[in-house]
Amino acid sequence: MGDFVLNVNGARLRVSASAEETLLSVLRNRLNLTGTKYGCGEGQCGACTVLLDGRATRSCLVPVESAAKAKIVTIEGLAQNGKLSAIQQAFLDEGAFQCGYCTSGMILGATSLLHERHNPTEEQIVEAMEGHICRCGTYPRIVEAVKRASRLLAPGASR
Ligand code: FES
Ligand code: FES
Repeated sequence: MGDFVLNVNGARLRVSASAEETLLSVLRNRLNLTGTKYGCGEGQCGACTVLLDGRATRSCLVPVESAAKAKIVTIEGLAQNGKLSAIQQAFLDEGAFQCGYCTSGMILGATSLLHERHNPTEEQIVEAMEGHICRCGTYPRIVEAVKRASRLLAPGASR
């Protein structure tokens, strides 16, 4: 066991964990940030996606030790001053979920995509979201939600 200081959603949090414990496990089981979901535990489903320094990352594959220097953002950190992020709002507006299990990973994946590309084509959205599995099959609505979010985030758009 060791002590690690993590930068999570803008706060510096101290946790005791073994160096190999996954970031996913630390977020859920030690920091009670349960919006990040455990799906496959093998990097295959995207349910555990968080942002590490702005990039979508499978937290089930990251040992906590190597996340200690990064800026970590989880689904709990996206809303600001009680206002949902544009992407969260777009998922709601498009009804882009059923059970919601994949949703936080999808939203963080989309956040990373729209950070890198402001106006992605449908093909680019599908390609970027490919590693995210939705067992409920809401893919078409998810694609619509990402398109809606990119319109909301376009320069000059009013939110
Ligand atoms: S739980 Fe991490 S990718 Fe499936
Ligand atoms: S909404 Fe159920 S897994 Fe995607």
